[in-house]
Formats: sequence, C-alpha cells, structure tokens
Amino acid sequence: MSAITFPDDFLWGAATASYQIEGAWDADGKGESIWDRFTHTPGKIQDGSTGDVACDHYNRWQEDIALMKSLNLRAYRFSISWPRILPAGRGQINQAGLDFYSRLVDGLLEAGIQPFATLYHWDLPQTLQDEGGWPSRNTAEAFAEYADVVSRRLGDRVKNWMTLNEPWCISFLSHQIGEHAPGWQDWTAALRAAHHVLLSHGWAVPVLRRNSPGAEVGIVLNFEHVQPATSSAADFHAARRQDGYFNRWFLDPVYGRYYPADMVADYISGGYLPHGLDFVQEGDRRTMGVQTDFLGVNYYTRDVIRQGPDNMPQPVDVPDVERTEMGWEIYPQGLYHLLNRLHFEYQIPKLYVTENGCSFSDGPDASGRVADQRRLNYLRDHFAAVHRAMQNGVPLAGYFVWSLMDNFEWAKGYLQRFGIVYVDYETQQRYPKDSALWYKDVIANNGFSLHD
Ligand code: FCB
Repeated sequence: MSAITFPDDFLWGAATASYQIEGAWDADGKGESIWDRFTHTPGKIQDGSTGDVACDHYNRWQEDIALMKSLNLRAYRFSISWPRILPAGRGQINQAGLDFYSRLVDGLLEAGIQPFATLYHWDLPQTLQDEGGWPSRNTAEAFAEYADVVSRRLGDRVKNWMTLNEPWCISFLSHQIGEHAPGWQDWTAALRAAHHVLLSHGWAVPVLRRNSPGAEVGIVLNFEHVQPATSSAADFHAARRQDGYFNRWFLDPVYGRYYPADMVADYISGGYLPHGLDFVQEGDRRTMGVQTDFLGVNYYTRDVIRQGPDNMPQPVDVPDVERTEMGWEIYPQGLYHLLNRLHFEYQIPKLYVTENGCSFSDGPDASGRVADQRRLNYLRDHFAAVHRAMQNGVPLAGYFVWSLMDNFEWAKGYLQRFGIVYVDYETQQRYPKDSALWYKDVIANNGFSLHD
C-alpha cells in the first residue's frame, strides 16, 4: 500500500466567499452590492434565489469556526464584503462591518486556524457600479482606499492577503459573457474592466505591506488547462487564443510581462479595442507587475478547444468522461500540468491552490450521514496530482478546498453544492460529508494511502 505524504508545514484549508455564505445582506449598516442588485433582479439566477440569507454565516460564524476546528483545518480562506466596510464604496466607514471581520479573525486565531483574507470576491458596492464600475479607473482608486481601511484594522493579525479573486470572472464573465453581475455583454468594457482590476491589485499590494508588517500578499487567478482538440494548426491556434483570453491575459501582466502581444493583436484586429489600449496609462505596466509573495491558483477543469465559427475558439465536449454536476470534466492531470507550467514558465516563488473542488448534490440519509464518495475521489485524485507536481519542485505551500460548506453558487443559486459540509438551508444545520471526515484524517496524517 503506497502512501502520499506532504511536508509538515503544508497548509490544509478550506475556502468560502462573503456573498456566498454570509447572508445579512442589509444588516448593521451594510451597503448594497452589485450581487444584491443582480439577485434582486428577476431572471438572473437559475433558481430565482438570492444571497440574502445564504448560510447565515454572519450570525453563525462561531459555530462555523468550531466546525472548521473539528475538521482539523489549519487555514481558512474567506473574503471581505466591501460594502459592509464602506457602504458607499469610499468615504464613510461602517465600524460594525470591520468589527465583524475582526471578531472572525480573532476567533480563527484562537482556534489555531490561519486567516487568509481575500479583499474582493465580487461584491462591489453598487454605488461604485453606478459611477462606472470596473470599466472605470475610479473603481481601482477606490479599491486601494478600501484595502487601506481593512488592513489598518486587521493587518496586525491577518498575515496572508489576497487582493482579488479571479480577474477573468470579474471582467469577462461579468462584462462580456454577462452571466455574473453586473451582467454586461460588451467586449471593450470587459477589457477595460480587466485592466482596472489588475491596476487595483498593483495599487493595493504596497498598501497591504505597509499596514500589515511581515504579511505575505498575492492575487488569486482562475485557470483552465487548455488543450487543442486535434494536432491541426487551426486547433492549435484556437487553443493558443483561448489560453491567451483565459490565462495569459492576467498572468503575464501580474508577472511583469504586460499584455500578451498575440492577444492584443487579435483583439485589435477583431474590433474589440476600437481605441486600442487607450485605458493604459504611463506606469500601469509596472504597477500591475508589482512583486508579490505568492500566487493563488483556482482550478476546476480542463478546456479542450477546436477552431469554431469565425475562427473563434470553441470548447469540445469530450465524450465518455466523468463530470461534476456543473458539467465540468474531472481532470486532475490538468492541475498537475498547470502547476508545472506556472513554476517553469513564470518562476513563481510560492503557490497555493486557493480553490479546487466539485459539485455533487448528495444529501444526508436518515442518520445524517452524507455519502459523497465522488467528491472524496475527486479530492483524493487532485491531492495526488498536486503531490506529483511538488515532487517536480513546484513550491506549493498549501491547498484550500472549495468549499467549506454548500453555499450560494452565483448564477446557479443553490442548485450546486460544492461543500465538504452539507447545509440544510431550511434549518441551517451543517452536516460534515464523508469527504470532510476523510479530509480531516488527511490533515491529521498529513497525507493518505492510495487505497483509501
Ligand atoms: C469559482 C469562484 C467560487 C465558486 C467556484 C465554484 O470561480 O471563485 O466563488 O463559485 O468557482
């Protein structure tokens, strides 16, 4: 029986995001966010639900910390709701909002769990949206002020900061595809948004360092492992473009390489940038490429790409593969390849898997047991992939499962359950699934046997 063992200081954790779990959408002085506005607009969310209550974590945070402790978690990645802190986006500070996160951080530290705080996981104050949102440079300036307010209060205790979660989703999914708030469908706006997201990251990093001595600071990007469907030149070209759109458009500027030239040329010739990169100002390249301590990697699936109509990349549905309920192919080797690529092509000093997980809707039986063997298998196979990458020298310091508990899955509402803990939304009772109990043992043993 072969065993896989991780380094002693490997950080095992779980992740969540404010809007997906907190609820209390208008409590104690919180301002409206673009997700409040979006979910309150009929037709935007598949099951018509909202995050108004979600997992009621705002009121149940102590119970949730006890739950994390019982699962042996060493780290917890959560996000901070900007409009809870600055209801109008900038200016007036809502102390009750800061108090909430301050208590949460104290509770985590008391429980021996390291807090990993993300400043932005998509709940932009609606006021800033009304002033132009991410397509406007104003939002990036406001973000640096928000980073300052939060880190002044929490910077003595939070020692791991992530500026933003998934710039691709903030810009393209929300402004070009329109599936997420604010629901625009405008390529140029999406490209402008992407730039201001990257700029806001660059401005926030030195602020966090100043207010949080000794802290490590990074950003979280989401990646798809892109592969061409065939060996044809056309599919290879389509895969290059997909990788540029999804991965390199963010990765390259963050690592000081500026926007990839092939993609700039594609966007200009495609008419997506009628005024070129006119939103880029002197010094932005250096700002976006600010030195960071780590990269957060979110990985769920691979993308097999062929050339579609109009020479655009088109995803291929690979037949006969196992998929999660999101429809995403289960492909752990993609995580192995991705981590290697990041290490060898970008020489990133430290990496964390900040999200990885799967949606399956298994619920509790009469005894309260949740037999989610498919999730357990998913995690086990991805842990093995990560371990293999580490043996190649990839400096991976930790892994955060998405998610600690079932929660509001954005445009899918409550239809998708990603948690290792089941949430009964009627009673708000939490039920650790089999995968959580298995994970607890993995953490205790710092590894597992391949026959588990
Ligand atoms: C990621 C998000 C996270 C969750 C997972 C399933 O893109 O960061 O909030 O929705 O997908």
